[in-house]
Amino acid sequence: MFVEARLAEIRKFLDDGSLADAAVEVARVGTVEGYRVWSRTYDVPNSAFDLDEPFIREIVDALPAGDALDAAGGTGRMAAYLAGRGHRVRGVESSADMLERARLRVPQAEFLPGDLSCLPVPGESVDLVVCTLALTHVPVLDPVPAEFARVLRPGGHVVIADIHPEGVARGGGPARTAAGRPAIAGTPSMLFWHFQR
Ligand SMILES: C[S@@+](CC[C@H](N)C(=O)[O-])C[C@H]1O[C@@H](n2cnc3c(N)ncnc32)[C@H](O)[C@@H]1O
Repeated sequence: MFVEARLAEIRKFLDDGSLADAAVEVARVGTVEGYRVWSRTYDVPNSAFDLDEPFIREIVDALPAGDALDAAGGTGRMAAYLAGRGHRVRGVESSADMLERARLRVPQAEFLPGDLSCLPVPGESVDLVVCTLALTHVPVLDPVPAEFARVLRPGGHVVIADIHPEGVARGGGPARTAAGRPAIAGTPSMLFWHFQR
C-alpha cells in the first residue's frame, strides 16, 4: 500500500509537463568555492544558529575570559560572542569571503586565513577553542583535534557543535556553486562536545 502510494506520487510528477525543466543539478564543491557565494547570505536567516547557540553559550558562559580561538569561524558569529564575553579572540578560516565578513563584524579580533588541520596559531597559546558547524566539512578529521590540543594551554577547553552524521548522510552541509546554484541541502540536527585538556 505504502509503496503503491509512493509510486503513484512519482507517476504524477513524471506526468506533469510543467515540471519537465524543474530539476536542480546539485554539484559537490570544495568549501572555499561553496562559501564564496553563501558568505553573502550565510547569516540571515540561518536556522542552525537557534540549535547550537543555547548549548554553546551555556558552556562558554561558565568559563573565565582568556585567549579564545574561533576555529573555522566563518563570518565571526562565535568570535563576536566570545569578544562580548571579554575574551581576546583569534579566528582561523579557510574562506577569504567568510573572513572578510568576520573582520568587519568583529574588528577587535584577529582573523587569520588558515586550515583546521594546520592552525596558524602558536602552541599552548589558547584557553578556549570553539569550533561550530565546520567539522562536517573536514574529510580527514585526525589532524584537527591534534591541532586543538597543540594550541590549547593545559586545562584549556574545546567546545564543538556540528551537524549530526545522519543529517549529513541525508545531504547536510549546505553550499553553493560559484555560479550560485544549490550544491547540497541543509539539515537541522546537531551534536555537541565539550573537552578539557
Ligand atoms: C557552516 S560554516 C560555520 C561558520 C561558523 N563556525 C559558524 O558556526 O557560524 C563552516 C565554515 O568552516 C569553514 N571551513 C571548512 N573547512 C575548513 C577547514 N578545513 N579549515 C578552515 N575552515 C574551514 C568554511 O569556510 C565555513 O566558513
